[in-house]
Amino acid sequence: MKILMVCLGNICRSPMAEGILRKKAEARGINITVDSAGTDGWHAGQHPDKRAVLIAKQYGVDISKLVARKFSVNDFDLYDRIYVMDASNYSDVLEMARNEQDRLKVDYLLNASSAGSNENIPDPYYGGEDGFIQVFRMIEKACDSIIEKLMTLNKSEKESLKA
Ligand code: 4NP
Repeated sequence: MKILMVCLGNICRSPMAEGILRKKAEARGINITVDSAGTDGWHAGQHPDKRAVLIAKQYGVDISKLVARKFSVNDFDLYDRIYVMDASNYSDVLEMARNEQDRLKVDYLLNASSAGSNENIPDPYYGGEDGFIQVFRMIEKACDSIIEKLMTLNKSEKESLKA
């Protein structure tokens, strides 16, 4: 399973989501690929925002070495699931989709924990550290749900191999 996390700048929300999901998958022995990208390229080549790095570190997740990049149409071929943080990311990514198969890969990250809610993870860039903590917790909840689903999938795959 290959999962891409997408936000606007790829320096706050999506690198946090990438780091959190990767760490949780490693801890449970789940083999997945996780990456992140931004719909805009302003911050391409930069490490995540210092506040995102700090808050993630306080929760035991090291995102300091991640490097921002811009989302590309090629990502539809490389990833199975594309999770966006908010409605604006959603429409920007969908605009680049070439077909229904591409469109079906895209979903709001918070739909992983509250299906069909289409809730936004707010952009914390212009706020203080509190905003980053709230965002971290929202992302973590969604990632826990993704992990639970992957564990169930893994289990049923193993059982079907045994049968
Ligand atoms: P992100 O946050 O989309 O969570 O990475 C932002 C980062 C930078 C800007 C906006 C949002 N910016 O305007 O530069």
